Amino acid sequence: MKTFANTIRCAGQAFFKVYRFNKSIVLLSLFISLMVALQSNINIFLSKWIVDQLSANNLYSLLGSIALLITFQLVRLVLESYSTLKNGRMHMEFAVHCENDLIDLVAKTELLDKEHPQYTGDFSYWSFINGKYLESYTTVTQLAKQSLIAAISMGYLLYYHLYIGLLALLVGTSKGIYDLYAVQRRAVINEKLMRQARVYHYYFDLLTGSQTQKEMTLFQLVPYFRQKWMRKKNEANALSMQLEKLNLKRQASGELLSIISSGIVIVIIAILIFRGSLTIGDYVAITMALTMTEGNITMMFVSISRLTENAAHIERLHKIENDVHAAIHEPVQNELKPFRFQDKLRICNLTFRYPNRDEPALTDINAEIGKGEMIAILGENGSGKSTLIKMLLGLYRSDSDSIFYDGVSIRLLDRSGMWSKTSAVFQDYIKYMTDVRDNIAVGNVAEVHNTNKLHSVLAKVGLSKTFEHGLETKLGMLEDNAVNLSGGQWQRLALSRVFISDKHELVVFDEPTSALDPVSEVRMMNEMLEHCRGKTVLMVSHRVGIARRADRIFVMESGRIAESGTHDDLLREHGLYHEMWHQQKQWYD
Ligand SMILES: Nc1ncnc2c1ncn2[C@@H]1O[C@H](COP(=O)(O)OP(=O)(O)O)[C@@H](O)[C@H]1O
Ligand SMILES: [Mg+2]
Repeated sequence: MKTFANTIRCAGQAFFKVYRFNKSIVLLSLFISLMVALQSNINIFLSKWIVDQLSANNLYSLLGSIALLITFQLVRLVLESYSTLKNGRMHMEFAVHCENDLIDLVAKTELLDKEHPQYTGDFSYWSFINGKYLESYTTVTQLAKQSLIAAISMGYLLYYHLYIGLLALLVGTSKGIYDLYAVQRRAVINEKLMRQARVYHYYFDLLTGSQTQKEMTLFQLVPYFRQKWMRKKNEANALSMQLEKLNLKRQASGELLSIISSGIVIVIIAILIFRGSLTIGDYVAITMALTMTEGNITMMFVSISRLTENAAHIERLHKIENDVHAAIHEPVQNELKPFRFQDKLRICNLTFRYPNRDEPALTDINAEIGKGEMIAILGENGSGKSTLIKMLLGLYRSDSDSIFYDGVSIRLLDRSGMWSKTSAVFQDYIKYMTDVRDNIAVGNVAEVHNTNKLHSVLAKVGLSKTFEHGLETKLGMLEDNAVNLSGGQWQRLALSRVFISDKHELVVFDEPTSALDPVSEVRMMNEMLEHCRGKTVLMVSHRVGIARRADRIFVMESGRIAESGTHDDLLREHGLYHEMWHQQKQWYD
């Protein structure tokens, strides 16, 4: 009962969501569906009339009814084509509308949740269920049409030939119930298929993608991954076969039931005609009404089961949307404080653990960073440098008050205001496969058309002569005339994003020069530090030579700040920094 109420509620929600989106098209298609339903039933009466006139040799009446039959068919054709065209357009527009909602949902989802491996699966499910509103709306319209056709044709049968009417009801319902069962089995298999598809698509992309070919060739990995792909693909094919068999079985048993019922009906009618209580026209009308009643009752069951299945998905989507909103513990907008960093950044007992990890990535971090200071952060892989940076930039939300900008907890700060005054070059920066212009301007999209500024930035990162078509040079792999860049060139472009704005108060570099040659590295560092004069800079680097230039150095180890101080302080401590310095010293001597 609860499921039924749910189905009606969600089907109603889906219908009204589409109705609000485009009232006139929805009303129009509903009207046309009902007209088509009426026409189907009028067909029965006209056919009966035509056959009876034929038997009575009534030529004028016969021609008149044939003309009427053809006219109705033509009107139906025109109406249906018009509706299909209008609906096709609305479907596309509504799909865009839903995708926009999906983009919003993703944007509102916490970064930490998006970095969780489960997110990839969740997202494909979100995209899948996002299409369910439209499907439910279409099903509701179809259900209205099916109900009207079935009701009139069954009414006709029940009124004139009660037993035949009851038989149609019985056969239609049994086929429907069988279909209902098959639909549920199908849903289970389809879900499994979706999960399989993710994996074999991944293997297929590995085998065929242009980025993967280097390793595929050198390590001669094609046979290895082909085998993995084949295995998954075969598993998926076996599932598809199950689905196919299920469909065949359903179709065959439905047909069988229909054949038996038509057989019975033909016998009954033959007897009635023989006795003279039925005309040939009645025979035509009864068989048509029988097929229509049976078929539409079965389809009504399928529609209802589809609505039930979709209701479950739509409910899930509502729950996801609510969860995403609930996860935003952000105080209401007018309680948020503007971001200011004129004095100092204070980190107090900061501990952080990724939800899918047992060990904390950061443990009890305490530090103070004054405005305008340059801090270098060193430490081996996995010691928590990138995590610390993401916390300081407010990219991961913390529930406790442990990061303060000018005394205000980051929890209370207007984060978008903060992000417009901060800049970062991440370790895994994005290589935008558009053009050079975009690759620089993403650092401050307001400047995307400021060609002079973009040129001067390009010069600062040493790329002014690199691109044949200047800022308009297409990059990456998306277009035929695009060019790919070396790791170092891509990294310079990523660095250019810091130079495009002067408004930033905090600039963060996460291993910004790891792909540059040593000479370029020194030159680039000088440029960057010159540009960042007066700003606060956090610089993650493995290079002691770069760290040495910082005002202070934090050395991280297993999520803690193990050492902190100036270059000279840390050398005197004879700890980790001292060790790194001695290992790398000869590079800088
Ligand atoms: N998104 C994530 N989800 C779960 N664990 C993560 C994630 N990112 C990093 N980690 C883990 O947190 C620890 C610190 O990582 P990270 O801050 O990236 O180190 P570093 O930048 O110093 O190399 C590591 O153990 C790493 O595996
Ligand atoms: Mg890192």
